[in-house]
Amino acid sequence: MDFFDKIVLIVDDEKHTRDGLRMSLEDEFDIYVAANIREAAEILKSESVDVMVTDLRLGGESGMDLIEQALSIPHPPVCLLMTAFGSEDIAVEAMKRGAYDYVSKPLNIDELEIVIKRAIKTRSTESEVEALKAQVDKRFGLESIIGNSLAMQPVFETVRQVAPTRATVLIEGESGTGKELISKAIHNLSGRPRAKMVTVHCAALSEQLLESELFGHERGSFTGATERRIGRFEEANGGTLFLDEIGEIDLSTQVKLLRAIGERTIERLGSNKTIKVDVRVVCATNRNLVQMVKEGTFRDDLYFRLNVVSITMPPLRDRKEDIVLLVDAFLREFCDENKKKRLELTTEAMQRLLAYNWPGNVRELRTAIEHGVVMCNAGKIGIRHLPPFLRDDSGAHEQLLLPSGQRGNFEIESTGGSDDFTDLDLARMEQRYILIALDRTKGNRTEAAKLLGISRRTMQRKIKDLEEAGELPIVEELRKN
Ligand SMILES: Nc1ncnc2c1ncn2[C@@H]1O[C@H](COP(=O)(O)OP(=O)(O)OP(=O)(O)O)[C@@H](O)[C@H]1O
Ligand SMILES: [Mg+2]
Repeated sequence: MDFFDKIVLIVDDEKHTRDGLRMSLEDEFDIYVAANIREAAEILKSESVDVMVTDLRLGGESGMDLIEQALSIPHPPVCLLMTAFGSEDIAVEAMKRGAYDYVSKPLNIDELEIVIKRAIKTRSTESEVEALKAQVDKRFGLESIIGNSLAMQPVFETVRQVAPTRATVLIEGESGTGKELISKAIHNLSGRPRAKMVTVHCAALSEQLLESELFGHERGSFTGATERRIGRFEEANGGTLFLDEIGEIDLSTQVKLLRAIGERTIERLGSNKTIKVDVRVVCATNRNLVQMVKEGTFRDDLYFRLNVVSITMPPLRDRKEDIVLLVDAFLREFCDENKKKRLELTTEAMQRLLAYNWPGNVRELRTAIEHGVVMCNAGKIGIRHLPPFLRDDSGAHEQLLLPSGQRGNFEIESTGGSDDFTDLDLARMEQRYILIALDRTKGNRTEAAKLLGISRRTMQRKIKDLEEAGELPIVEELRKN
């Protein structure tokens, strides 16, 4: 590891100590010096200091106060305290308050150098961990859930609200709409990052196996139970239990589940010992549970227990505005995965995607893009590279819905007939996005540009186009509000 670009700030009120330390250390590190808290604070503000070494006594000021200040800035340095021999108790106090280590005066330069290097190493490991965490957030937090449409806003809002609580969440929606993704986001935003999330796919298991999966069993409790086994409830203790396809569980397991959630206790099969569990339950279904309750196949008391907060995932056909963003993300993902340079879609292919009604929702779109990326070797992904169901245009297409009906403050009529794609003009669609963004940001151009991921200058240019297209009155109207 190289240290010469690491910034070390030395704070001491005695000039000869500052000068001495600078001379001894400046071959190894990038050294800054300060004589008091004010000077040190200025340097901390303007430089990204890696390590701060401060004397305990700074004239009338205290190095301890400086450490406290330094640790409160956004990217705090690692702090070391220099103390007079015999004041170890003060040094320990400093470490309790967040200092990394201390060195006793008179200073041994070699020792100081080692301590500084160790501090720098710690700091870089810490920032690696931070970066990893950010990556995980990116992958599983809300950032990974793509969608700017109005239809998705209540979903995001509810996730943010409910994630840090203990409330049971029921996620409903068609297959492939992102229910599992949402459950992960809820878990990851729960504020208990180290807690575990355990998933049970309820549909895959028979009645007895599901019960044993959920609650565990003692040895010999049923034929085939040769070993004692801990259930998923116990495994998820302190974390999240995700029950996927909850609509598939039979009535007798429903009773046990109700008890486990309601009383926060379980019993393993073949045992009557009661075990306390502290588990946050999130479940998902693509069945209509209310209907099932009416038909008597789902217990109403369990339904009410599970449905403390519910999230309904909108089908992709109701949020076609998100298709462009999703396609962009999936193109990036699969081009990277297949080590291809970034591919684009032809206008016709994009129009085809926008016209299709996506019964398999986002999962189906994702697979279609993967297909396109794999099949296309050069140039742009065209209709011929898409999966067969998208290639013939007699299939499940429907009238273009982008974005039809009432959106925000103004009406946008839908364009095009059911099987005539030629009058769908991409430029026109783009204008609609611009209008939607302006609407959503109440006419704030900078914010609208951010929302669409374009520069403010591009935004200005697009707005000019809108003026020429005669849509300006709407923009003007928005600006007034
Ligand atoms: N908003 C989204 N942004 C990015 N990817 C998404 C989004 N929604 C779904 N996906 C992706 O689509 C696929 C299907 O999502 P997921 O498994 O969460 O759906 P599901 O609702 O649980 O489906 P099923 O009911 O069939 O289990 C996954 O690969 C997921 O990453
Ligand atoms: Mg799922």
